[in-house]
Amino acid sequence: MATPLNLTSNVFFFIFTAALLYIAYTIPGLHPPPAPHRQTSLVFYVHDYFSGEGDATATTVAGSSGAASSILQFGTIAAVDDPVTEGPSPESREIGRAQGIYVNSQLNGKALHMVFSVIFTDGEYKGSTLEIQGADVFGMKEREFSVVSGTGYFRFVKGYGVMETEFMDLANLRGILKLNVTVKHY
Ligand SMILES: *[C@@H]1O[C@H](CO)[C@@H](O)[C@H](O)[C@H]1NC(C)=O
Repeated sequence: MATPLNLTSNVFFFIFTAALLYIAYTIPGLHPPPAPHRQTSLVFYVHDYFSGEGDATATTVAGSSGAASSILQFGTIAAVDDPVTEGPSPESREIGRAQGIYVNSQLNGKALHMVFSVIFTDGEYKGSTLEIQGADVFGMKEREFSVVSGTGYFRFVKGYGVMETEFMDLANLRGILKLNVTVKHY
């Protein structure tokens, strides 16, 4: 049973709460509008050398003919730790490393599945990483891959990239790839 005193305090409590809510919702900054989706675009180059005089950064580790299997053969797995540079030249500033795995996953040998991290060690995105996964039908001029997510500046991102072969020495399996990535931040 509500006594007159309790009724008064209930009414007071209701008015007080309503007033607080009104103030909270009318003071600018207390409920900022949701941030618009930001987008970041970046272009970088990956130097992928399966052979070389001390500069090889990719190696096959398993395959149907053992570790010596060619990356151009179905079933071959390679580990990579490729330099990532600002520009296409090998002398261009190194801004990170592309570290991960390629698996030749097309029966005719003409496509790789790539899973790697781009670990930025210098430049604007130093300390952040991008996680890349997708098919690389390397005979195509342009092929699209997905950017699964990232860390640091790239936390929660999603996006895609377009890969182009900038240079290819197929006999020695030395290539330079241009990656043009677009990600959205959530
Ligand atoms: C990167 O790709 C976007 C489209 O996704 C394009 O508009 C832009 O011109 C490309 N940049 C370079 C340097 O290729």
